[in-house]
Amino acid sequence: MKYDRIDRNLFIKNRAKFTAAMEHRSIAFFNSNDIYPISADSTMPFQQHRDIFYLSGVDQEESILVLFPDAFNEEHREMLFLRETNEHIAVWEGEKLTKEAAFETSGIKNVYWLDQFESTMKVVMAQAQNIYFNTNEHTRANTEVQTREDRFIKKITKKYPAHGVRKSATILHRIRSVKEQEEIDLMQTACDITKKGVQRVLDFLKPGVMEYEIEAEIMHEFLRSRSKGFAYTPIIASGKNACVLHYIENNAKCEDGDVILMDFGAEYANYASDLTRCFPVNGKFTDRQKAVYNAVLNVKKESEKLLVPGTFLADYHKEVGKLMESELLGLGLIDQTDIKNQDPNWPAFKKYFMHGTSHFIGLDTHDVGLWTEPLRAGMVFTCEPGIYIPEENLGIRLEDDLVVQSNGSPKNLMGSIPIEADEIEDLMH
Ligand code: GLY
Ligand code: MN
Ligand code: MN
Repeated sequence: MKYDRIDRNLFIKNRAKFTAAMEHRSIAFFNSNDIYPISADSTMPFQQHRDIFYLSGVDQEESILVLFPDAFNEEHREMLFLRETNEHIAVWEGEKLTKEAAFETSGIKNVYWLDQFESTMKVVMAQAQNIYFNTNEHTRANTEVQTREDRFIKKITKKYPAHGVRKSATILHRIRSVKEQEEIDLMQTACDITKKGVQRVLDFLKPGVMEYEIEAEIMHEFLRSRSKGFAYTPIIASGKNACVLHYIENNAKCEDGDVILMDFGAEYANYASDLTRCFPVNGKFTDRQKAVYNAVLNVKKESEKLLVPGTFLADYHKEVGKLMESELLGLGLIDQTDIKNQDPNWPAFKKYFMHGTSHFIGLDTHDVGLWTEPLRAGMVFTCEPGIYIPEENLGIRLEDDLVVQSNGSPKNLMGSIPIEADEIEDLMH
């Protein structure tokens, strides 16, 4: 692992939160992700499933976490099953968790090799009434791939068809959305690494450079700062490319007079950061570009103030819509007739601002969280309004990551990354 060891108290607290929400006489399972194959003997780099990581800190393939707080024997109340390692395996496959290292990482005393899983299950499943399965209930999840967890659920259901079934997702969405201070510190580290990328771009950007060269400059800063790399595929979009919301080709030349939109964030210890900045390629915004930029910045500043305990995300998004409507009127992009004739389900402002303003962020970039419940202190959100005008080859989005506070405005984890138009022009000169 490139990141520094995380204090295992975080994972101990996380497990306590999960088990406190479980029904009695129930057992919960959490699996690592697979290492996804490419072809021949090539594989994708391993990415741990965020739930087993959140509950144990184990960042290794083929691991199973079992939580059974009511187990008769103390050693069955929390268990880790890992791929066996020894000195010989370490020579061939590199460092894997020993039982001692797994305890140091997770605080779990009962660590077994996987070959003990079946026999242990016979004992504990006879005591358990219900099984908590970890299904993916993210509302935007969209994949046909069967995960290791999916296969595990199938296998266990077949073997133990008489147990009641419960779901872990609701519990995890609730507890993962409110961050512990240790998590906020890790997210701050991710944001600070992202800042280094921004600073490098400010020095590097000029007419004629390629979008992928900018991507490379950013990656350089990430890797030398103990990050594995980008938390999500970066968008480095100059000129009209900025109006393609999911532009990830990053293969065009940055032209004099264009603005470049850059949506990127470093991961650190599996925590995400998510930033967007827009810079003038030649170091100076035109008056029109600056007017659109400041309109987006105004919406962002006003929207952030609404990220306070008690707010519902649906109401928040309505308020942001009103702020955006007013800015678009000011820019002459929409008029009162557009508003009078608008479809309430697709208001006039959506022509230029067609995505959401905020999402939960944490171990996943679009993190889990309950969208139907009010905001609470310790939740972390992006704030990312934008205005996209393809006919002017211009797309502006500005995005920071913010922690909801119990009192007052949210804490901006990216508050020291330049965002004022004048400041950016000064820094580019
Ligand atoms: N980069 C993904 C997002 O901003 O939500
Ligand atoms: Mn983003
Ligand atoms: Mn975002």
